[in-house]
Amino acid sequence: MLTAVELRAAVPNVAGDAPGEACHFPQPGEQGTAVKGCTEENSVFVDSFLYDDEAMEALHEAEPPQLSRSYCPDVAKPKECLPLNFLSHSLDLQELGFIFSSRCLGDLKGRTICDVGSRLGPVLWGAYHLSTAERIVGVEMNGWFCDLQRKIVKSRNLGDRIAVIEADICSEQGQKQLREADVVVLHNVFEFFGDAAAIERCWTTVRACVSRKGQRLVTVPSLEEAIKKIDASRAPNLREWVAEIPLAYPEKEVDPEQAQAQEQEGEVAEDDSSDDDDEDEDEETEEFTSIKMYVVK
Ligand SMILES: C[S@@+](CC[C@H](N)C(=O)[O-])C[C@H]1O[C@@H](n2cnc3c(N)ncnc32)[C@H](O)[C@@H]1O
Repeated sequence: MLTAVELRAAVPNVAGDAPGEACHFPQPGEQGTAVKGCTEENSVFVDSFLYDDEAMEALHEAEPPQLSRSYCPDVAKPKECLPLNFLSHSLDLQELGFIFSSRCLGDLKGRTICDVGSRLGPVLWGAYHLSTAERIVGVEMNGWFCDLQRKIVKSRNLGDRIAVIEADICSEQGQKQLREADVVVLHNVFEFFGDAAAIERCWTTVRACVSRKGQRLVTVPSLEEAIKKIDASRAPNLREWVAEIPLAYPEKEVDPEQAQAQEQEGEVAEDDSSDDDDEDEDEETEEFTSIKMYVVK
């Protein structure tokens, strides 16, 4: 599998952004989905395909640190800093392992998979190495990322199964790929890359083109979450469109030291948490719960 270290050298920063790329955080009062509670001020992007936990720890621990853990809402009060939220534009290796396992997509022999917004290509490399999908298509609107993906496809001889298409998913070419795919992957795809009108247009296109019975969608976050802020009168009707396929999420592996620390914290926090429901508890003990799968009815 392509190593993250090789790719790191090709991108200009830890966020894994293309040169000159600007992400769009929805502004207060603006429609368009955002990752819960994350704002431009309290969040920072670190690409988790390029930097796993260990590599990220090394950035924090570097002298001087290459990545801060906190931010100060008031620069005049440097002691009142808060922890930063870390966001990633890419799926990491563990998430890819889950998606292409029998717990999620299972056997893809002879199938076509389309990753909408393929960026650095983790889904493409994952599909190539971890599945037997016959055709693996990345549709990406950013030309710089397409060039980078194509270079890798060429240097690694992956062109027998992978195709990279530079296009907006709403274009004719993009729509064709959506219609032809057996599996469509949508990972935080439109959230940070357009305004509310663009997000709505993209989801309307996906709804119209991924409409063949049996086509599957793998999404992060859930479709409900992703379309939440689109005006209900224009948002895709999920009940008519898809059925969710329940996934067998694995239990989180527990690091004993961390568990002990959390237990101690929990003893204090427990008094505050009154009636957490079962679902929340499951999400805390299981991995990859933001990954959802649906089948078109
Ligand atoms: C969060 S990244 C997902 C990366 C990759 N699919 C993964 O899961 O690791 C979303 C990507 O979608 C691209 N994108 C956003 N809107 C798009 C559109 N309308 N058509 C094609 N690509 C789009 C962005 O340029 C960005 O590279």
